[in-house]
Amino acid sequence: MLPQEFLYQLKQANPIDQVMGSYVRLVRAGSLLKCQCPFHSEKTPSCVVYANTQDPHFYCFGCHAGGDVITFLMKIEGLSYMDAVQMLAERAGMQMPQQELDNGEGKRRTRLLELNRAAARWFYEQLTGSDKRGLIYLKERQLKPEIIRKYGLGFAPESWSGLADAMRRLGYTDKELIDANLCSVSKNGTLYDRFRNRVMFPIFDLRGSVIAFGGRTIVPGGEPKYLNSSDTLVFKKGRNLFSMNFAKKSQSKRLILAEGYMDVIAIHQGGFENVVASLGTALTPDQCRLMRQYAEEVVISYDSDAAGQNATLKAVNLLRAAGLRPRILHMHDAKDPDEYIKKFGPGRFRLLLEEADDAVSYELQRCRDGTDPASEDGTITALHRAVSVLADIENELERNVYLSRTAKEYDISPEILNTQVEREIKKRRAGQKKQVWRAVTAAGMMRDPVNPEAASHRKEAKAEEMILCYLFRNPDALEQVLAQIAPEDFVTGLNRRIYAALAEKLTAGYPFSLSLFNDSFSPDEMGHITGIFSKNADITVSEQSVRDCIAVLKDHPQTAVNPESLSDEDFSASFDRLRQKKKSN
Ligand code: CTP
Ligand code: MN
Repeated sequence: MLPQEFLYQLKQANPIDQVMGSYVRLVRAGSLLKCQCPFHSEKTPSCVVYANTQDPHFYCFGCHAGGDVITFLMKIEGLSYMDAVQMLAERAGMQMPQQELDNGEGKRRTRLLELNRAAARWFYEQLTGSDKRGLIYLKERQLKPEIIRKYGLGFAPESWSGLADAMRRLGYTDKELIDANLCSVSKNGTLYDRFRNRVMFPIFDLRGSVIAFGGRTIVPGGEPKYLNSSDTLVFKKGRNLFSMNFAKKSQSKRLILAEGYMDVIAIHQGGFENVVASLGTALTPDQCRLMRQYAEEVVISYDSDAAGQNATLKAVNLLRAAGLRPRILHMHDAKDPDEYIKKFGPGRFRLLLEEADDAVSYELQRCRDGTDPASEDGTITALHRAVSVLADIENELERNVYLSRTAKEYDISPEILNTQVEREIKKRRAGQKKQVWRAVTAAGMMRDPVNPEAASHRKEAKAEEMILCYLFRNPDALEQVLAQIAPEDFVTGLNRRIYAALAEKLTAGYPFSLSLFNDSFSPDEMGHITGIFSKNADITVSEQSVRDCIAVLKDHPQTAVNPESLSDEDFSASFDRLRQKKKSN
């Protein structure tokens, strides 16, 4: 357990708005700060940051994530409690209390980051070593020395142990080299460098730490063409974007999304800093949310081949779901942006950016793909697809603009096309209603993962939360409340634990703070606790209503089933009963 005094200073030195501000874009809303929640996809910000209160915290009214600055870091970086504390201590230049210094993942993470940085430096030095093939390769690809330096590009020579030897000399262990995914072990047990004969692209996180590498072979036809770090303690590939560390500085509300490392660097060298790429995988929702923190519009600039175009359609949907406005860049006479800029120059590329289509036009054009425009069959197939695209457009005015354009293009009456589109929309609404209904009924039956018992004890759970909320605001009343109700009388497991922990800490003399719960509750549970605090912010809980809530819990029969203690058969039997009851209602 860390000393309270230390934790207090740690939080003073790491204001929640500053820390969160380096991950998400905070906007002022009256006296509060808001942001798009980084933990779920949304278009309007529902994550509120209470920075200027005695107990600074955040709470998302959409997905119920919440907690203090430590919980935030645990969730967004996937860290344990101690590691999040350590990271904040480092950020503020504070010493960790002595007993915590030598243990934990935090230390391993720091070591891996240092090792990655040392490796990046070594790869960079190899460019000008005895084997100049890496530098020659990059020069042939027309990269200027400044950009090579800016991206920290490097070279992994032919050797099986060049990197390992150099890193061992710096004091890194074989295990650390393996953990960083820089080395592997062969069948006969020897350690070898994974990256050989490759130009190296370090991958930086938003704070500028080297978290991984991509390496492109310089051997013609060498396989694989690109070799990437697998996930490690410090790297989750679906969560990072190549070059986001530079793009976030550009202050542009528009990002350019390219497919590969070389495209990004060529575009950047052409004068567009606001460019990123996903890392050797298809685009992920996490990456889209990351972009949404900085931008409103994304110009997809994938390769012009079929694979690139299919990936474009997928990216359009993912970007939309994250609340971004996708546009699509069209290139002719070049396979990718790298080649385009080389052939035609950055000025022409800027024109492409300006002319980039909105996503709907792009999708409408694609409806013709693989159909024969001369045949009736082909036209009908294309029209069916177009109806589906038009039905997707939520805004009526916008839909009408595209509808009349499409009608003209296919030379059919706008009224007929409109009838088709309306029918499609109705059909979808009916389908959606069914889906929502299914989700609602399923949610009623499902166990809430954080507090499973709440589903079958709604009234009691609500009463418990009112009591807790009252105590959060009136910690002095603890003794009085404890006299009337013991933790064992709480019906749902999580609320019981919260009540017990609160009683323990307050009795031990700690002043109330949400952070009291940090070390014994998971980040998801912290969201639940913060929710009790934030959701009821505008309600005053009177002493009388607390007494009523206590009565609710006292009335509750103690023989109630506890799902945790049921056998599987019993559980499914009670589940069936519940279902029967629902049906008969
Ligand atoms: N990629 C990968 N593994 C491969 C091939 C590709 O991870 N075996 C990823 C890389 O991130 C690469 C991107 O997919 O940058 C795009 O692939 P490709 O179009 O083949 O690469 P280019 O960027 O065009 O590479 P180059 O110009 O060097 O041939
Ligand atoms: Mn390419």
